[in-house]
Amino acid sequence: MADHLARAVELALRGPAHGPNPRVGCVLVAPDGTVLGEGWHRGAGTPHAEPAALDDARDRGHDVTGATAYVTLEPCSHTGRTGPCTDALTRAGVAAVRYAVEDPNPLAAGGGEVLRSRGIDATYAPSRAAWEVNRRWLGAVAHGRPWVIAKWAQTLDGRTAAADGTSFWVTGEEARAHAHGVRAEVDAILVGTGTVRADDPALSARPPHVAEPHQPLRAVMGMSDTFGAKVWHDENAIAIRSHDPHEALAALEAREVRTVVVEGGGTVTTAFLRAGLVDEVHAYIAPAILGSGTNAVGDLGIGTMGGALRGQDVTATALGVDTLVTAFFQRGPQ
Ligand SMILES: NC(=O)c1ccc[n+]([C@@H]2O[C@H](COP(=O)([O-])OP(=O)(O)OC[C@H]3O[C@@H](n4cnc5c(N)ncnc54)[C@H](OP(=O)(O)O)[C@@H]3O)[C@@H](O)[C@H]2O)c1
Repeated sequence: MADHLARAVELALRGPAHGPNPRVGCVLVAPDGTVLGEGWHRGAGTPHAEPAALDDARDRGHDVTGATAYVTLEPCSHTGRTGPCTDALTRAGVAAVRYAVEDPNPLAAGGGEVLRSRGIDATYAPSRAAWEVNRRWLGAVAHGRPWVIAKWAQTLDGRTAAADGTSFWVTGEEARAHAHGVRAEVDAILVGTGTVRADDPALSARPPHVAEPHQPLRAVMGMSDTFGAKVWHDENAIAIRSHDPHEALAALEAREVRTVVVEGGGTVTTAFLRAGLVDEVHAYIAPAILGSGTNAVGDLGIGTMGGALRGQDVTATALGVDTLVTAFFQRGPQ
């Protein structure tokens, strides 16, 4: 079983990391162990993994009656942009379903129970690997707001800009290329009006660093106008006239944003941290020292070491002369 679920995870990873839907993979296996069909979800509006696998089996000329479906996420039981997967599996005569993550989406959840009520042997078979694939999406759905990655580039002494406001470039080419790759995986990028005024960033995921054409929504948070800035050069951008991170996330949630990268500056990043709304941090650290300038993060009202926000599942990746440190600030499955 573990092998079939591992394969389903591989398939799930072929789907896009961005977009309102999770990445899901499905493998259909005959009682004698023959793989009958495979499928994965290619993004909102396209077939879910289970119907895709059923189609694949049909195309291969296989009858799936009595088969077991290995799926990375509990089959949905609702009609959204496509029909319920529970119905597709039932109609096809599948005898058993093993799903690796329970669906937290109140609209789609309960698929396992629906299948069991129809006499299908549907079992929750937890898999950390399957959970990892949709960690951000699952966090977003569970909290009813977009998952927030706070990203910044800093010197060894924690500065994101020099005293004169310049921040081009804190880090080198490899670190910046990596950050462009992350932009291509998310639904939105948010910055404050101060960063737009100081840097006039395009906030796009730029080739050649990204192969995929996906461009995230760009959001600028603050009361002042930034007319004429590069960020407004096409329509895929919104102004959020607020200083409240909750309001900003509500505006993004209304646009089906599941993951947003907050790219600063320090004022906006600090506001999100103060509000307890940062789920993941990406700190690109350059071997440079400024001694003065802008801090990556401002006062959070933490006065003692015991109060420090501490991340988990930490990674450190060398990118040329720089280092990317990532950490999560939400709890994983126990
Ligand atoms: N190294 C890096 O990774 C990096 C990344 C980004 C920026 N930077 C640097 O950081 C500097 C800009 O930092 P910054 O802190 O001034 O810019 P910021 O956080 O982008 O923008 C601050 C502005 O946003 C508005 N705002 C939005 N939410 C707010 C809130 N909760 N509280 C207060 N104001 C809020 C305010 O302007 P309104 O009057 O419009 O409301 C405020 O003046 C520049 O030097 C830039 O080069 C560095």
